[in-house]
Amino acid sequence: MLRSWSILLVVAGVWPLSIGAAPTYGNKDNSTCRKTKVAILGAGVAGITAAQALSNQSVTDFLIVEYNGDIGGRMVHTTFGEDADGNPYTVELGANWVQGLGTEGGPENPIWTFAKEYNISNTYSDYSSILTYNETGYFNYTSLLTDFDDSWAEFEQAAGTILTENLQDRSMRAGLYQADWRPSSLDAAAQAVEWWMWDWETSYSPDESSFVFGITGYNLTFYQYSEENNLVIDQRGFNTWLKGVAGTFLQPNDTRLLLNTIVSGIDYTKHDVKVTMDDGSCIEADYAICTFSLGVLQKDAVTFSPALPEWKETSIATFQMGTYTKLFLQFNETFWDPDTQFFLYASPTRRGYYPVWQSLSTEGFHPGSNIIFATVVGRESYRVEAQSDEETLAELMEVLREMFPDVDVPEPIAFMYPRWTTEPWSYGSYSNWPVGTTLEMHQNLRANVQHVYFAGEHTSAEYFGFLHGAWFEGQEAAMRIAGMLTKNCENVGSGCGEYLKYKVLHGTTEEAEYNAINGIGVSPFYVADSGKE
Ligand SMILES: *[C@@H]1O[C@H](CO)[C@@H](O)[C@H](O)[C@H]1NC(C)=O
Ligand SMILES: *[C@@H]1O[C@H](CO)[C@@H](O)[C@H](O)[C@H]1NC(C)=O
Ligand SMILES: *[C@@H]1O[C@H](CO)[C@@H](O)[C@H](O)[C@H]1NC(C)=O
Ligand SMILES: *[C@@H]1O[C@H](CO)[C@@H](O)[C@H](O)[C@H]1NC(C)=O
Ligand SMILES: *[C@@H]1O[C@H](CO)[C@@H](O)[C@H](O)[C@H]1NC(C)=O
Ligand SMILES: *[C@@H]1O[C@H](CO)[C@@H](O)[C@H](O)[C@H]1NC(C)=O
Ligand SMILES: *[C@@H]1O[C@H](CO)[C@@H](O)[C@H](O)[C@H]1NC(C)=O
Ligand SMILES: *[C@@H]1O[C@H](CO)[C@@H](O)[C@H](O)[C@H]1NC(C)=O
Repeated sequence: MLRSWSILLVVAGVWPLSIGAAPTYGNKDNSTCRKTKVAILGAGVAGITAAQALSNQSVTDFLIVEYNGDIGGRMVHTTFGEDADGNPYTVELGANWVQGLGTEGGPENPIWTFAKEYNISNTYSDYSSILTYNETGYFNYTSLLTDFDDSWAEFEQAAGTILTENLQDRSMRAGLYQADWRPSSLDAAAQAVEWWMWDWETSYSPDESSFVFGITGYNLTFYQYSEENNLVIDQRGFNTWLKGVAGTFLQPNDTRLLLNTIVSGIDYTKHDVKVTMDDGSCIEADYAICTFSLGVLQKDAVTFSPALPEWKETSIATFQMGTYTKLFLQFNETFWDPDTQFFLYASPTRRGYYPVWQSLSTEGFHPGSNIIFATVVGRESYRVEAQSDEETLAELMEVLREMFPDVDVPEPIAFMYPRWTTEPWSYGSYSNWPVGTTLEMHQNLRANVQHVYFAGEHTSAEYFGFLHGAWFEGQEAAMRIAGMLTKNCENVGSGCGEYLKYKVLHGTTEEAEYNAINGIGVSPFYVADSGKE
């Protein structure tokens, strides 16, 4: 039996702050709005972190408004398939890894700190545990992975030169080309390897991605912390840690957390903000922290009044919202190698066509679960999201039968995938930097518009696309506001009050501008593993 799946259902895990009743606030006839100092829009990592940072500075008069019935944002799970006892597995639909953990004595990724504190079960993703396939079955082309790695050592330095000498950005494709990675478009194996090394992380192709900021982002996470990625398999859900953090400053049934509440409009002035919900109720606040995803901002899902200024609109339009789609299948047996984590498929005709398969049936994950999931990104995501489950499953089964020609591949007993591009509270998965942008253009994405502040993975110059990016940016926005409200600025790195913004954008960025004020407080010139510049 197939479990058909068209909308995301959020399944509550262990929830220390029990939830349930519809929020009671304001007045449905909106004759009066509920009043607060800070309205935090969104209860994902940035929103909850912002609330904690405010609490830390004794600003406790805030309201957190969340579309869904649970906190976590794009760190969301559901149940899938079942084990031998008939109990379902919990799988992560969105954020799934802690990326870049930290080294002994070096800085530690805050998400890793929380994962340890809240005992989040996770397993090291061993990228060398990989078998390679094409349309004729198993075909060993792992030497291409080594070739790509060799060119990485070269192109990351070239990107560093562009940054320090304030040269013009170019595409990741041009960076690869200059480092002698020049696969023919007919070389399916090389295309699959390139997808695995680049698109799988950024959700965009090298042709679409910024070279200098692609490498800067990679450096800051994987050289500053560590090159390890650990996949979360916790059956309580990855968001357990964020609920734990929320529980440190919210009471059970805290009336400051408004779940199942949909924002439709944000009216702002130089002095305050009015947030209107789709049921007509409203909140009046001194400040708002809008943690909506770049996808939500790009879709104009919320009406800003007055309309956002041109410098802000341009920055919203410039950055890319990627989509990352995991397609889960459970079988009655594990017909793939149970000791391998990854299976790479090179489609002979189509780059990015179900290239990466990840086994959860492997030791360290859920052995014996017979669950494997494929991943697609970008245009392939839009394509599979637009077609029926049956059409997508038929494609997946055809690929599996090509990969394993000697196996009688059975029909799956469960199948499911999320449709991120149409989720009205996310419209996509995470952001990426396009070719030829600048730090100043990104600073405009970060910057406040009067009393509306913005935070999320997309506002992080250092860690865009990552959970830890959302954490640092939620903290930053809240500390800037707390500094104004309490007249005590504790945000030592980049100050309090308004963000720097650029009403006129010039060509490129001088090296000295790579500083905390523009969102880069840490140098990307980290030498791997030493933690030193
Ligand atoms: C509630 O507020 C909205 C926008 O602020 C307005 O359009 C609407 O007419 C108001 N409804 C009532 C019943 O006053
Ligand atoms: C709040 O304070 C605690 C205790 O000092 C600290 O661990 C935590 O990181 C702070 N939270 C934020 C978001 O700054
Ligand atoms: C995590 O596990 C340790 C050791 O088992 C335990 O002492 C601690 O209380 C646990 N923490 C949480 C938040 O469950
Ligand atoms: C695949 O080929 C590489 C050499 O290119 C070799 O080192 C590796 O052991 C081979 N893998 C398998 C599973 O045979
Ligand atoms: C990335 O790190 C490498 C290794 O430390 C360095 O050579 C390179 O210049 C850095 N590139 C950027 C853009 O920071
Ligand atoms: C929280 O609300 C739920 C549902 O309304 C209720 O059952 C529970 O007792 C409340 N918990 C506390 C601590 O007030
Ligand atoms: C697939 O692999 C086989 C070797 O197993 C090879 O002969 C064939 O050319 C490959 N297909 C493509 C499209 O490269
Ligand atoms: C799985 O199902 C297929 C039929 O679809 C059957 O041939 C096979 O024996 C089953 N495997 C196990 C381990 O039961």
